[in-house]
Amino acid sequence: MTANGSGSRSVSTSESGRAESSTEVRREPALDGPDASEPIIESRDLDVYYGDDQALRGISMAIPEQQVTALIGPSGCGKSTFLRSINRMNDLIDVARVEGELFFRGKNVYDENVDPVALRRKIGMVFQKPNPFPKSIYDNVAYGLRVQGKDDGDLDEQVHTALERAALLDEVEDQLDSSGLDLSGGQQQRLCIARAIATDPEVILMDEPASALDPVATSKIEDLVEELAEEYTVVIVTHNMQQAARISDKTAVFLTGGELVEFDDTDKIFENPEHDRVEDYITGKFG
Ligand SMILES: Nc1ncnc2c1ncn2[C@@H]1O[C@H](COP(=O)(O)OP(=O)(O)OP(=O)(O)O)[C@@H](O)[C@H]1O
Ligand SMILES: [Mg+2]
Repeated sequence: MTANGSGSRSVSTSESGRAESSTEVRREPALDGPDASEPIIESRDLDVYYGDDQALRGISMAIPEQQVTALIGPSGCGKSTFLRSINRMNDLIDVARVEGELFFRGKNVYDENVDPVALRRKIGMVFQKPNPFPKSIYDNVAYGLRVQGKDDGDLDEQVHTALERAALLDEVEDQLDSSGLDLSGGQQQRLCIARAIATDPEVILMDEPASALDPVATSKIEDLVEELAEEYTVVIVTHNMQQAARISDKTAVFLTGGELVEFDDTDKIFENPEHDRVEDYITGKFG
């Protein structure tokens, strides 16, 4: 049944514990995605430019709530750009310009009255390189809570809960006062995830969160992503096909030129994609 010939990337939905029927009647593969009923994020005809260069072309995509959506595609195809357009991180790049619409719970985040800082509280982000603050483990996690004035309750409890959810608590419980920078790379990344979820966002954007980590740390992050999707919506960029196949429910394939070529259930993308270009990319034939 696998179209890639190797069989090694075939996706078992039961593996992720979130089995879905693959026999459901599918709508025409318009690029608004398979679960367009109640998307938490929806882009419509989104174009992003850096100066005169267009990085994304007419991206229309509906991202379902409480699932893991993977963004894959070759280097430079605009995955990070798309991710940053969701919580307006592109605002921080002088030459970046966004056209089109990007809805979060039905509200266009590019409307004039949207406060990007408030938006980023709802839509948190974890980057490729772990970037803890040069502060204690405790203060890293407490940071956002303090900034938002949410530290009047039991701050200790909130910090512990976030570390626990990020699957880090057991490893750092006795050293909460030591610097976040003294942790291993994989621990630092989980600290950044704890920091991102401490303030209780609704969406977590992850840009290649495990690409700098060893296989053990990578597998911890992957497990964590699957767990997080029980409560949050996760959008994750990865270059690792097996990782996308293992942890995501939906996969969006971007190709060179900043085009979204196909977006569908992950097993469909990996087993029987509609587009030859997608199959070529997934099977490594890339052209
Ligand atoms: N800050 C920037 N200023 C100017 N151009 C940029 C900037 N960031 C990205 N670009 C350009 O936009 C295009 C898309 O880049 P982007 O980083 O989104 O790709 P990507 O798919 O995330 O690639 P990779 O897999 O290498 O991370 C590229 O041509 C890139 O050179
Ligand atoms: Mg990138």
